[in-house]
Amino acid sequence: MANKAKSIELLNKGVAKEIETVLQYLYFQFHFEDKGYTHLAKLYKNVAIKEMMHIDMLSDRILFLKGDVIMKPVSEIVYLDKKEGQVDLDIKRVLEISAELERKTVDAYNDFAMQCGAAGDATSKRLFEKLIEIEEEHEDTFDIECDNYVKFGETYLALQTIQRVNGREESGREDIGME
Ligand SMILES: [Fe+2]
Ligand SMILES: [Fe+2]
Repeated sequence: MANKAKSIELLNKGVAKEIETVLQYLYFQFHFEDKGYTHLAKLYKNVAIKEMMHIDMLSDRILFLKGDVIMKPVSEIVYLDKKEGQVDLDIKRVLEISAELERKTVDAYNDFAMQCGAAGDATSKRLFEKLIEIEEEHEDTFDIECDNYVKFGETYLALQTIQRVNGREESGREDIGME
């Protein structure tokens, strides 16, 4: 017989991770928006929405198993440093923090999937495996953005500012790694 209590515990650990990730990405999105980096602001908003949907998927399973959802982040989010009283929006650091967050989530979900399997709960195992695929795509997206930023630096930022001035919407990019 499946160990429901174990699955509920692991699924709630997943919820806690996703909540933390949503809060972290919204925080970064606000700062990108404030600086006019529309591409990155949109990217973070879209990923945050995907992570919110993961909370929904995990919660559905918890309630199906007759548990309750615990709405608490794992830990505090990372705040940006301040330089001369101003928030220092270090883009490379933001993208690295994000890729690392995804990597840690992938590691945790691999472990949770195995534990669910050992507890005889194949459905929760599959749910974690499905999430792993999506989190790996997010990790890849942040790595690519980071590489582009390192390669093109000021040009990368200038393009985003021009897009803002022209009031043009981003097209296509927000779909990268978001499915
Ligand atoms: Fe997620
Ligand atoms: Fe993710």
